[in-house]
Amino acid sequence: MRFAGIDLGWERRESGLALLDWDGASLTLAALDVLSSPDEIAAWLDAHCGAGAVVAIDAPTVIPNETGMRAADRLTHSLYGKYDAGAYPASRARRYWQRTTGFSQALEALGFAHGDAMPSRAAGRWQIEVYPNAAMVQLFSLGRIVKYKRGTLASRVAALRRFRLLLLRELPRLTPALAPPRLPSVPSGGAALKRVEDQLDALLCAYVAAHWWYWGRALNDVLGDASQGYIVVPRRRAARVPLADLRQSYLLAGLLESDLHPDPVTQFHAWLDQALAAQLPEPNAMTLATAGLDGHPDARIVLLKDAGPGGFVFFTNYESAKGRQLDENPHAALVFYWPQLERQVRVAGSVSRLPPEDSEAYFLSRPRGHQLGAWASPQSSVIESRESLERRLAGLEERFARDPVPRPPYWGGYRLAPHTIEFWQGRPNRLHDRIRYRALPGGAWLIERLAP
Ligand SMILES: Cc1cc2nc3c(=O)[nH]c(=O)nc-3n(C[C@H](O)[C@H](O)[C@H](O)COP(=O)(O)O)c2cc1C
Repeated sequence: MRFAGIDLGWERRESGLALLDWDGASLTLAALDVLSSPDEIAAWLDAHCGAGAVVAIDAPTVIPNETGMRAADRLTHSLYGKYDAGAYPASRARRYWQRTTGFSQALEALGFAHGDAMPSRAAGRWQIEVYPNAAMVQLFSLGRIVKYKRGTLASRVAALRRFRLLLLRELPRLTPALAPPRLPSVPSGGAALKRVEDQLDALLCAYVAAHWWYWGRALNDVLGDASQGYIVVPRRRAARVPLADLRQSYLLAGLLESDLHPDPVTQFHAWLDQALAAQLPEPNAMTLATAGLDGHPDARIVLLKDAGPGGFVFFTNYESAKGRQLDENPHAALVFYWPQLERQVRVAGSVSRLPPEDSEAYFLSRPRGHQLGAWASPQSSVIESRESLERRLAGLEERFARDPVPRPPYWGGYRLAPHTIEFWQGRPNRLHDRIRYRALPGGAWLIERLAP
């Protein structure tokens, strides 16, 4: 596979271009260039990409709206605005729209289909829209973007040098890893500076293409879809421990109090990252146990969609069995099991609904088929037949044919705020390690070891 990044000049200026090669184990930088016309770039991509490639474009590729902004831009604003990575609002009122969408259509004509719903590791030719500012803060876990596009010349040069160092240091550490590339040095000004900036932006775009292909939705978010416009953004991660070290630590040392982060959610992210790096299937699947007023426990799998200081987030139908049980008794437990790593995590706490705007933001990021599914399924109710469900779906496809699918009022997220979190690591002779964090009044955590 090959992965291309295009920092497309939205108006009449040059575009940076980067190409990465995947050999099944790592990525290498195959080309870094600057070209001037979209036609020239399309021909270049056609010649260099072969049958399997993902092209990531930093420009609005689908703009259905005459004015205002796309849902994808709105979401980008609400998710990454705090890092100074809000997007430019794209509409057909903008001068550039025909150039950027025309470029995307030219790629479609060359067989590069929109990849907003592509399966991970898919063969074939794909294109995606990306946004380097959001990708940069997410991939490199930054508190704000590196600002090399604005400010005095001296500050832009310094910022671009920092961005170059981040690319050199961080991309080889991520999965998939980029073999340390040779990058041009940063000139002190003039047109040469702009050209290096465009090429480094293009390299980040190309890496996002590879990250999307490799991880799919397990480690990336897709804001919007190909009918309304979309942006693919890698998800933020805690620093990852190399798998080799991981093996060493659990065979040799097990789970020591001194290895653990004092904050259990940070510790959880470290383990989740290792489960992701080990490519376990659905590592964010967790058992959710609830009980209503009858006191009878009930359990099922749901997917974890976020975990932060406020708690663990999942989405469901508020009128389902679990929704009704949580209305009656807002306490629940979660269990993750990662057998290949011989690990279990148990979480217990109280549950509350997410604010509607947070449920809304997540609902908008789901693929359209999933959105329609939420309308079609009266979850946990008895239904007549499979056909009745499919008829409902067909009716909904017609009803929303021309419009974005709104969030059903009965669908949304819950956040479980933990009062205990236990980390379990398998050890020889059944003498497993169990470390439990208990919330103390005032926000501190008490860490205790339990007998296996
Ligand atoms: C891997 C996996 C992931 C699932 N993720 C979710 C989810 O995120 N939200 C959800 O409502 N149901 C999810 N389900 C389906 C639930 O397990 C369950 O069937 C459904 O929520 C109805 O549960 P209830 O009748 O107890 O409310 C998932 C099932 C599996 C096997």
